[in-house]
Amino acid sequence: MGKNNLIKPQASKVDVLMGLQWGDEGKGKIVDTIAPHYDVVARFGGGPNAGHSIGTIVLNQIPSGALNLNSRNFIGNGCVIDPRILKMDLEKLIEIGIDVSDRLYISERAKLITPAEVLIDAWSEHKKGTNKIGSTGRGISPTYTRHTARESMRVLDYFSSTTSFHKIRDHVRQVVDLIKLERSDGEQFVHALFSGSSVEQVMDVWKGSFDFAIPIKSVVETDYILNTLEKGCCVLAEGAQAHYLDIELGDYPYVTSSHTTTAGACIGLAVPPKYIGKVYGVIKAYATRVGNGPFDDEFTDDKLTKYFRKKGHEYGATTGRPRRIGWTNFDLVQKAIRANGVDYLFINKVDVLFNEKFKIIHSQCDHDFEGLDLKNKKPNLELENFIELVQDWLQFSKSGTKLIGIGTGPGRDDVYYL
Ligand code: IMP
Repeated sequence: MGKNNLIKPQASKVDVLMGLQWGDEGKGKIVDTIAPHYDVVARFGGGPNAGHSIGTIVLNQIPSGALNLNSRNFIGNGCVIDPRILKMDLEKLIEIGIDVSDRLYISERAKLITPAEVLIDAWSEHKKGTNKIGSTGRGISPTYTRHTARESMRVLDYFSSTTSFHKIRDHVRQVVDLIKLERSDGEQFVHALFSGSSVEQVMDVWKGSFDFAIPIKSVVETDYILNTLEKGCCVLAEGAQAHYLDIELGDYPYVTSSHTTTAGACIGLAVPPKYIGKVYGVIKAYATRVGNGPFDDEFTDDKLTKYFRKKGHEYGATTGRPRRIGWTNFDLVQKAIRANGVDYLFINKVDVLFNEKFKIIHSQCDHDFEGLDLKNKKPNLELENFIELVQDWLQFSKSGTKLIGIGTGPGRDDVYYL
């Protein structure tokens, strides 16, 4: 077990780190630990639907490089931003003594989530009843929908007109009126979502948050990352959500609305593919999913689900919803490895399997393990077997992917590098 000396970014390259399951693989922690190797940590897609936990703090919008005082942090054009949640992230960091404002850069083409999109998201889920996607309710899908309809408000649009704020407020009013007209429970619904506040009050908070969190000095042109790369810097692209939530390659329609895969980093950071360097994939030793959608290896035993949920703290970092739990299916991981060109693999949360009998699933056979012992942070025979099995499987699958690290706890130091 060695140090993280396999993390060797190349100058002028974007390395991509992404989840290979349904999100919540512990990407934030890995980004936090490898960020010191990079000049810039960049988010390329998604928005406040992501909840990246770094130790005890959860960031929704700001890249997980924030805790590394030397990293610049960038929110790319592929992202959607709710200024209220960005402000909350900034405040959480200030509370622990980190002021990131001078090293946070936001693409002028990032799209704005307004209270209208949050209302539409929640209302559309409410109307779907049992057929709902299980969205995070953060306005993600309506914001991307408006964007593809060529109607979204980007950061640059907001700054380019004096009437932008009024336009947004009018749109919120229209949406509120439509919801109230559409069904008899509309009025009550809006009241609950706005916590009894008026459109004016909600919009005042939104504007105050915008002014605080997106000052003009933080806004940069679309080619910011390209310029950075041309100067020889190394960039880490931090994926949000994960492969099986990708709008194109995921379990459609039970997906998010952005491109969460490696290819998404090019679009969402506005860099051509030739700049992509290494790809890190992250999985969990067991699998979880929030929201609806297929999950073949989900536990059917309620007791086991509850036990693992408690032991692994498996509640959504953004929504607090209990996560569904099952075993990791290596065939699915393999598909995600191929589709994303993963060079290095991290397996997180191996500590949760301490003393547990557990399984990993793949098409050849299921492997049962007796329980891992990580007491002195020293792997026992079972963990060594587990590592060996994963390594053999990676070799057998001819993907060229190397197992690089094993996560053994929530802290920065809780990663074994192989
Ligand atoms: P949306 O992104 O809020 O529209 O949600 C669409 C689906 O993606 C739902 O099943 C969500 O639970 C899931 N999802 C979105 N973001 C995350 C994430 O960061 N982790 C895990 N699941 C997510």
